[in-house]
Amino acid sequence: MCGIIGYTGRKNAVPILLDGLKALEYRGYDSSGISVFQDGRITTVKSKGRIEENEKKVNNEYPGLYSTCGTGHTRWATHGEPSDINSHPHTTENVSLVHNGIIENYAEIRSELCNKGYTFISETDTEAACLLIDSLYRESHDHLTAIKTALRRIKGSYAFGIMFGDNPGKIYAVKKDSPLICAVSEHGAFIASDITAVLKHTREIYIMNDGETAELSADSVTFCDAEGKHISKSPEITELSMEQAEKSGFAHFMLKEIHEQPQAIKRTVASLILNDITSYTAPGLTADRIKNCRHIHIAACGTAMHAGLVGKYFIEKNARIGVNVEIASEFRYKNPVIDKDDIFIAISQSGETADTLAALRLAKESGLFTIAVVNVKGSAIAREADGVIYTQAGPEIAVASTKAYTVQCCTLFMLSLLLGYHRGLMTKDVINERCRLLTDTAPQKINDVLKDSDKILSISKKIAEHENIFFIGRCIDSSLACEASLKLKEISYIHSEAYMAGELKHGTISLIKEGTPVIAIITENTLSEKTISNIKETASRGADITVICDERIILPKDVCSNIIYVPHIDSGLTFLTATVAFQLLAYHTANERGCDIDKPRNLAKSVTVE
Ligand code: F6R
Repeated sequence: MCGIIGYTGRKNAVPILLDGLKALEYRGYDSSGISVFQDGRITTVKSKGRIEENEKKVNNEYPGLYSTCGTGHTRWATHGEPSDINSHPHTTENVSLVHNGIIENYAEIRSELCNKGYTFISETDTEAACLLIDSLYRESHDHLTAIKTALRRIKGSYAFGIMFGDNPGKIYAVKKDSPLICAVSEHGAFIASDITAVLKHTREIYIMNDGETAELSADSVTFCDAEGKHISKSPEITELSMEQAEKSGFAHFMLKEIHEQPQAIKRTVASLILNDITSYTAPGLTADRIKNCRHIHIAACGTAMHAGLVGKYFIEKNARIGVNVEIASEFRYKNPVIDKDDIFIAISQSGETADTLAALRLAKESGLFTIAVVNVKGSAIAREADGVIYTQAGPEIAVASTKAYTVQCCTLFMLSLLLGYHRGLMTKDVINERCRLLTDTAPQKINDVLKDSDKILSISKKIAEHENIFFIGRCIDSSLACEASLKLKEISYIHSEAYMAGELKHGTISLIKEGTPVIAIITENTLSEKTISNIKETASRGADITVICDERIILPKDVCSNIIYVPHIDSGLTFLTATVAFQLLAYHTANERGCDIDKPRNLAKSVTVE
């Protein structure tokens, strides 16, 4: 949610900032801007639209713009519509500032500053921070004092990159509840919302903690803590490679990421099992804790929450522990009923989602043992949970989550085996067999779906013509239906709804008419006959039925117009091949409709605001 980049060094900052912004564009893409030092003052160029728009503006209106220090920002609008004026950086004569997050008391700060004679030109919360630092700098004439005093005043979440007009070559960075890293290369120093923005230049990363301030100059980065004391931080060398952050010949990141799933599953399972499954554990998740646990609470948002639903199915089945899956933004405000022996699991690809982080904090305050299932190393949710289980999806750049979802599901499946083992419901042999299915069989079968996607492509051409679609399924398949529906609507803009197959007749079936597409998912063998009955109910009312179906289930001939048979995997794992099928269906449908697949309308990848 908004991307920040900053560079100070020996090279021209302008192309470095624009290039860094392109790598961060998945975080928000309704407007962008850069600020650089030029001829002793700060020059800011910003515009509504994609980074290319601002790049054109830079090239046309500021040809030859050259500077060795600057900051850039790509925006996902919160306060104020996407426009040139509302874009970041916000700049005064003294200060230029980029911001990711929300300043909750901006209205109060704004009115105080107006009383002091300041004039606001944008509708943003960010401008309040910029002008506040400006006013405090006029009083103190000290850069750090102005920043620190402003931070004591500001409520909310922020990652700030700040430059002062009278301090060329220097960037200050601070954060609270929004991600920010610093990085050092041979030719200069960086700040960024995410590692992918600096990978072309360096792999030496410093992850910033809340309350820390970084001071960057061409040759160094220094840090101080919230009290202003200098602290020494050691860099981490990231394992991420440029290849992981590039499309590598695929038309879209989403398609690349769908194809990366076999490897992502293998990596994730391998990292969890080490020598044998029973040694797979999050720190602190002891056998006693597992035995005493009566209830598990899972909190997450969007696709990660749908992975939680799949996790619920497996944990209840394999470990016989009741699981509540909560939308994180609801969990924190609903006064949840929890017991001290319960376990809390936060699921998040980015590890930065504000609602999931807040739910985790609430669970910790309530005394629960907390586990995070997270993809991004060192992210806030990973750092704050008592134990973290890292998924190994690698960087997920398409806004629509695919590989992160499948590895979250696999991780929760593995967790269900571990819980079942400690509760005396699973033997090591059974568990080892299930792990073999995940590491060997599942990747092969997924590859079979990927190789044979022409049938899915032809069905997607028909789906693409509709504006309302229903997904149905029972048990685990109803959880898959939720994710299939979200995937389709977020990238193709086709309205769709997911229903438990047996529930449709209690009201929603009134929406089914001649030609309404209904996509049924059947991987749950024991319930196939029930789902087929529900399919027939909709077919009798004119629905046009597509079934994504385990190859071992025999469908009656007259039941549907399209069938996508997916390879069977034992032990309930056919959900993985069905998942890849509905991801491809969503992808091809959106492509057919000419949608901007990797950057869907109104969305951003990492949602760091409530
Ligand atoms: C949809 C999607 C979102 C995210 C949700 C949570 O494709 O990606 O629904 O799953 O915003 O994000 P994380 O997992 O980063 O907490």
